This record gives sequence, C-alpha cells and structure tokens, in this order.
Amino acid sequence: MAEAYLELRRSAGLQGSVPLSGAKNAALVSMASLLLTDGISCLRNVPVSADVLCMIQLLQELGAQVMFDHASHTMTVDTRGVNRWAVSAAVMRKMRASVLVMGPLLARFGRADITVPGGCVIGTRPIDYHLANFERMGAEIVQQGTCVRAKATQLQAKRLVLEYPSVGATENLLMAATITPGRTEIVNASLEPELLDLICLLRKMGAVIDVAIPATIVIEGQQALSPVDDHAVMMDRLEAGSLLLAAAITGGTVTLPDAHADELDIFLFKLEEMGHSISVGEERRGITLRATKEPRAVSFKTHPYPGFPTDLQAPMMAAQCFAEGTSVVEETVYENRFLHARELAKMGAQIKIDGRRAMITGVDTLYAAPVIATDVRASCALVLAGLVADGVTMMTGLHHWRRGYDALEHKLQILGASITVCGASEQAATYSHDVAMHEEISQE
Ligand code: EPZ
Repeated sequence: MAEAYLELRRSAGLQGSVPLSGAKNAALVSMASLLLTDGISCLRNVPVSADVLCMIQLLQELGAQVMFDHASHTMTVDTRGVNRWAVSAAVMRKMRASVLVMGPLLARFGRADITVPGGCVIGTRPIDYHLANFERMGAEIVQQGTCVRAKATQLQAKRLVLEYPSVGATENLLMAATITPGRTEIVNASLEPELLDLICLLRKMGAVIDVAIPATIVIEGQQALSPVDDHAVMMDRLEAGSLLLAAAITGGTVTLPDAHADELDIFLFKLEEMGHSISVGEERRGITLRATKEPRAVSFKTHPYPGFPTDLQAPMMAAQCFAEGTSVVEETVYENRFLHARELAKMGAQIKIDGRRAMITGVDTLYAAPVIATDVRASCALVLAGLVADGVTMMTGLHHWRRGYDALEHKLQILGASITVCGASEQAATYSHDVAMHEEISQE
C-alpha cells in the first residue's frame, strides 16, 4: 500500500471556532495510573490517536481489559485481570510513554520489567532520573543491555530531589508514592498542567497529595487506591497552540472555546509580541486570535512550565519563517529538536542552526516541496508552512501526525484550510495503518 501523506495548499485567513480534543500527554499517563487500582475505571475526553491505541495495547498486554468508544472519546479500563508486570520490547519501542507503567507496577506488584525506551530523533531521552529515584525508594534495579528489571518487596517513602523537573520522572515517582506507606516528597518536581491533571485523577482514586514550595509534591501513601468512575482528561493545550498558530500564519481569526489561557501564558505573550491580537473569555477560558497582516518575528527560549512549551517550539518556528525580521530560538529541553528546520528550509525558510540555538530570518514567500515529518511536533510545523506556501506541499511521515493529534486535519478543514490525507484510503491512513507503522518507528 502506498504511504499515506498530507497534501496542503495555501489557505489564506482561517476563520471560525473549533473544539479541542483531550491532551495526549495527559491521557497516556492517566491510562497508566489506572494500574494502581483493582477494578473498572472510566476516562472521558480521551483523544483518538495512535499513541493512545498503543497504550491500550500495552495495558492489554499486562492483562487489563480496555473498551474505547472512538465516537464518544470514552474509555473503560478493567484492571482486575492485570497479572503481569513485563512490558514487551516491541511495545516499549513504539512509544516512550510506555515507561510510565513502571511506577504503578513496581508499587502494586513489586516488579516491573521494561526495556529502556531508546533515544529518538529529538534526543537520547534517558530514564536515569526515574531509575535513580526508584532505587532511592528501595527498589533493586538490574540493567542488562536495554533490559531493566526492577523489584521491590516494599518501596519506602523518601524525600526525592530531582536534578531536573522531568515530567515523566515526576509522574512515575508520584504514582508509585501514592501507595507507598509514609510521606514521600518530590522536590524540583515538574508542575506542568498535565501533571496537575494527573494529581486531580489520583486524588479521585483516594490518593493524598499536596503541592508545596519550592515545586514540591508531598504524598501520604495509602493502603490502596480505588477505581475512578469518571475523569475527563484535560483539553490539549498543545493542539490549542497549533490551531492559534494556524490562524496567525494564514492571517485569520480563530476562536477556541475550550482553551485555558493560564496553560499558555508565555506562548500567548509571544503571539501578541508578533502583533497578533489575543482575547480571552471569562475566567480565562476561551481564546480568540485575530492575526495581524504584518507579523513581526520574535525570539523565545523553551523552558519547563510556565516557560515556553518545548512542544510548541517547532510550530512557532514555522510562524517565524514567515514574519518580518529575525528570530532567535533556544531549545533548552532537548539536545536535538531542530530537525524540522531542515524540512522548512526545503520550502525556502532561512534558518541557521548553532547547537541549541536557531536563527530564523523571515521571508515573504515559502514554496511547496515534498517534506518529511520527523516527529510529532515537526509534523505540525510543516503543516503550518504548507498552509502558506506557494503550490502544493506533500508531507510524508503521517504516522507522527497521527501519534500526537486527534484528526487535527478535520479541525483545520472546518476553519478553511486546504489539507487532505492522500495516498491511502482515509480508513487505512488513520489508526490500524499507523499503529502498524509504529512497528519500525522510534518512540518520542
Ligand atoms: C514529556 O516527555 C512529554 N511526553 C514530551 O512531549 C514533552 O516534550 C516533555 O515531557 C517535556 O515537556 C509525554 O508526556 C508523553 P522529560 P518526558 O522527562 O517525560 C531529560 C510530545 O511531542 N531526561 O521532562 O520524556 C530528557 O532527555 C512529547 O508530545 C533525562 O535526562 O520529558 C529531556 O532532555 C515529546 N533523564 C528532558 O530531561 C531522565 O530520566 C525533559 O524530559 C528523564 C528526562
């Protein structure tokens, strides 16, 4: 079967209002956290994306039963049959987020056998912060090659200090601590909105969690947690940022009623610095962007929340390519997250890379070209560029787009974008095909 690809044509002035989907980076950890309970839980607002389908496969491999209604975005997970703690290398390779089952398995069963999720295009992405702190909690961890076998007759509550506010390490340790007797502190914790969404879910299960200063999560371990009968995954702030940038780069006006401005402050400041007008609804819920016709290039540096989100760096870079002036982008979270620059340059973008810094000089015109998405967020950057380029842009690497977004192309079409899935039937280009495509791609 020919590889599916996106076909993009210049689409001036996107207009209108669209809903958001649930956040991938909240949904995946929410699904993993259900392993802490023994029963039937229900999650709502779960995005239909390839990564979510991959996490379903993982939970089923451990013995859980999962029902996912794509139309209603509602998922039921029955963990009563969970009786295994080894995750196959094949599943671990598909998606880095698979490592998030380690904390729940170790805390619940005293065992967790995983393979180190290898590096990927955006960086080596080790899991040393996860493993070192599980050892501090008393786990015995044996690494043989890429195999990691962890066991702990009883994890111990400890004061854990992260050398970097790692999202995944915070999530893994937090989940394990919820059923580890005693008081655990995670200092220099990540407090991204997706983490706060996880804390909300864990509290619904009966976890006792406080957030203190400086960036400290305090957990009083409980004997057991209970299944959750209703939790709605938070809206996807990264999808919101991508849609606002689609309005910005095409000179349109777009409203996102579901978006929370508090989750995107720095990003919104930067859009206003470019000359775009941002208005926010009651209680800072709902965002409208009215694009300026003469956007100014802005510089920015990625940083853990509340800094500029690294996952919006690539799409924001695309907007700088088509703005007046020069932008300097510094990527402080990953060591190699500029691969989209090479693809944007094929379209006429002027970008110089120097280590973790990129210098972009805005141009008046981008030109259509065959481009390849190298990771989830790079696919978004190339879609945005394709919406303003002269000619017909063809983007392959569609599985990356499918991993991170729930039919985002349909939302863009509603707003007036000319974006079409080609080269394979719509059905094949969605999930079964892309889950298969997962077999040989590295995780992110
Ligand atoms: C989560 O990844 C997200 N993924 C990423 O989104 C996001 O970019 C990242 O957080 C930062 O916000 C999910 O939630 C599924 P980290 P995670 O641990 O947890 C280094 C997307 O596009 N590090 O905060 O893996 C690491 O190499 C994805 O949706 C260690 O060195 O991120 C990286 O440079 C991409 N050792 C930095 O820390 C460790 O043990 C941040 O990683 C762990 C991390």
